[in-house]
Formats: sequence, C-alpha cells, structure tokens
Amino acid sequence: MVQVVLPNDANPLGFILGGSVMHLIDIAGAIACHRHTRTLLVTAAVDGLQFLHPIKVGDLIILKARVTAAWNTSLEVEVEVFSEETLTGVRRMTSRAFLTFVSIDREGRHVQIPPLIVETEHEKTKAREAEVRRAARLEARKELEARCR
Ligand SMILES: CC(C)(COP(=O)(O)OP(=O)(O)OC[C@H]1O[C@@H](n2cnc3c(N)ncnc32)[C@H](O)[C@@H]1OP(=O)(O)O)[C@@H](O)C(=O)NCCC(=O)NCCS
Repeated sequence: MVQVVLPNDANPLGFILGGSVMHLIDIAGAIACHRHTRTLLVTAAVDGLQFLHPIKVGDLIILKARVTAAWNTSLEVEVEVFSEETLTGVRRMTSRAFLTFVSIDREGRHVQIPPLIVETEHEKTKAREAEVRRAARLEARKELEARCR
C-alpha cells in the first residue's frame, strides 16, 4: 500500500501522526488477511510498535503486509512500514508490526480459515517465529483477562 503523507495526517512538526501510521498498518494487515481468508475479520492483537524515523509531509509511506502463519480461526500478519522521499527516492524502514486477526461471520461466530502454505526456508522461519509470538500473546491476554475480572 502506498500513500502520500498529507498535512491533515501530520503533527505541528510536519510528521505523520503515530495514530495515522497505526491506522494504515491495521488496514494493510487486514487486506493481506482478507485475501488469505476471504472472510470478515476483527483485529485481536497488535504487538509492541516502535517508530524508528519520522515520515514528513509530502513523502510516501509504503506498507508491505504478508501473512506469516494461520491457525484455526486466527492468523498473524507482518506489516513493514517504509518512508520514501519523493524527490530522492531514498527509502527507510520506519516500523514493523505483527497483528493477529480473527475470522468471523456476520453473527460474530469464529470461522475456520485455510492453512498457509509455507514453502521457502524464509517462510518456514517466519512461521516458527509466529508460533512463539502467539504463545506470548495468549499468555498476555490471559493475564489481562485475570486483571479485568
Ligand atoms: C478477538 C476475539 C474475536 C476473540 O474471541 P474469543 O471468543 O474471546 O477468543 P477465543 O479464545 O475463542 O479465540 C479465537 C481465536 O482467536 C485467537 N485469539 C484470541 N485473542 C487473541 C489475542 N489476544 N492474541 C492472539 N490471538 C488471539 C485464539 O488463539 C483463537 O485462535 P485459533 O482459533 O486460530 O486457535 C474477541 O476477543 C473480540 O471480538 N475482540 C474485539 C475485537 C475488536 O473489536 N477489534 C477491533 C475492531 S475490528
């Protein structure tokens, strides 16, 4: 996904707002997951997010999303964010995020999703790493639920 950063999305310093980047990450991740599942989805989790460099008004924000693992009704997507200076073409990675989406139908019931075909060594590594992140996420969710009781 590519967009130009417009003044409406920026803070007084002329840099894109963190919240605007988060919104675009959610959208890019959802698109990749919709293409895998062809179902409705909700965002279940977003892992810790960092902003390494600002992106200024007039530059491009580029988001690359790829599904890393699919389980029964949920899947993980990695979204990488880059800035690209319009006048020079210089590109820098500014953020990386892992999101989990859950597949649902119109009544809110969870829906089984297709498995992800992992072929290359790179894809297999990504999928293995996703298992570790999933375990940590479910643990964090359990802790939060216990605190909210
Ligand atoms: C996310 C949500 C659908 C989970 O539903 P639930 O019935 O509590 O969850 P379950 O324990 O049955 O888990 C369903 C699946 O989601 C996964 N999941 C649930 N919460 C998760 C979390 N915090 N992180 C990672 N995966 C999670 C489970 O591992 C399970 O995956 P699997 O079927 O692939 O094994 C529910 O909590 C919800 O609707 N949350 C609000 C979502 C929302 O409003 N998002 C923002 C707007 S889209």
